[in-house]
Amino acid sequence: MGLANSSGTTPQAEGGEILTPTRFAIVGCGTMGMRHAEIIMGTKGARVVVAFDTDAGRAADLAKKLTIRQVASYEETLQSRDVDAVVLCTPSSLHAEYGIAAAEAHKDIVTEKPIDTDPERARRFIAAAEANQVCFTIVSQNRWHDGSWALKQALDRQMLGRPLHAHVSVKWHRDDKYYTSSDWRGRWSGEGGGVLMNQGIHYIDLLLWYLGEVAEVEAMVATSRGVIETEDIGVGLLRFANGALSTIEVSTCAYPGFSERLEIHGAKGSCILEQGKIAFWKTSDGAEPPLPNWPAPSSDFPAKYIPFQRQYQDFLRARARGTAPVVRPEEALRVIETVRMFYESATNHAAVRLRSSR
Ligand SMILES: NC(=O)c1ccc[n+]([C@@H]2O[C@H](COP(=O)([O-])OP(=O)(O)OC[C@H]3O[C@@H](n4cnc5c(N)ncnc54)[C@H](O)[C@@H]3O)[C@@H](O)[C@H]2O)c1
Repeated sequence: MGLANSSGTTPQAEGGEILTPTRFAIVGCGTMGMRHAEIIMGTKGARVVVAFDTDAGRAADLAKKLTIRQVASYEETLQSRDVDAVVLCTPSSLHAEYGIAAAEAHKDIVTEKPIDTDPERARRFIAAAEANQVCFTIVSQNRWHDGSWALKQALDRQMLGRPLHAHVSVKWHRDDKYYTSSDWRGRWSGEGGGVLMNQGIHYIDLLLWYLGEVAEVEAMVATSRGVIETEDIGVGLLRFANGALSTIEVSTCAYPGFSERLEIHGAKGSCILEQGKIAFWKTSDGAEPPLPNWPAPSSDFPAKYIPFQRQYQDFLRARARGTAPVVRPEEALRVIETVRMFYESATNHAAVRLRSSR
């Protein structure tokens, strides 16, 4: 596929219908695999045809629910001629290995975030996708809320003036069972980190999307419970290449859990997002936020599925047009490199500057 960027504009259906239905395999049929399957089945121009999980019972549950084929191995998934694209919902540290094999089998790819837990593997994943010309995106559903999207448009149009400073607060609550019920969450080998790599990553992605390249990070992390190896609290300071500063605070132990917030203050105005909605907006010239005019959701999902569906609609359009999806692999790589800067800073008790090799 030729990969021209389609980023930055509201991806309204140009000329309407996506005519070629895309047939997906769900790989990893746990919490997110089940959710993706529901979203795909409710999205026009897409359907799930294959389920695979190393836990055969989970794949069987999904196959039975959707009346689709269960396969016994990942190789069989990739050999299936009726599969156009795979959705990788395995533990995060497997994304690149599975993704590279998918690219080499000429399957298009939607992978759950993060792109992988290791930047070097992620680079090989991106190289394999490019070499095999497959359509490839990373789930970043938070970009697809009305407010998040409007803020991006506003920043691109300089509506807030030069961005000066930002703040992110992700204060969620997960109980110990959330970690102990899986063999990979809270483990360096499976998750590649803790709250920063798994939950905070959504908002680090947004900060980078809004403010660009990170120049410097200074961070501290803490682990408040005995059942995990990785951090469940992370705080940090960021300086962006454009001069903007940001603070960030992420936690999975803020009982009972709070709405996440992202605040941006520019020379001409401020915008505060709460759970992806604009909670505050004011500019010195009185301009209104540029809210998107999305196509109606194609089925009556729970509201939390709608941003995922918009990202699938973008992926389907990109496949049909031979363009690049909005959420680009190189951006997802930058995000995990930035998370790694947090860990390096916290370990060495020192600020970490962007490596010139990036
Ligand atoms: N976008 C979001 O908001 C969001 C939310 C939660 C999780 N995630 C991401 O989704 C991914 C999956 O998370 P989850 O919460 O669904 O985890 P989960 O533990 O519920 O599901 C993972 C599934 O992968 C299967 N699996 C393990 N090893 C496998 C292998 N080698 N081959 C095939 N299947 C294998 C497991 O049996 C399990 O069914 C992670 O990368 C996570 O970061 C994203």
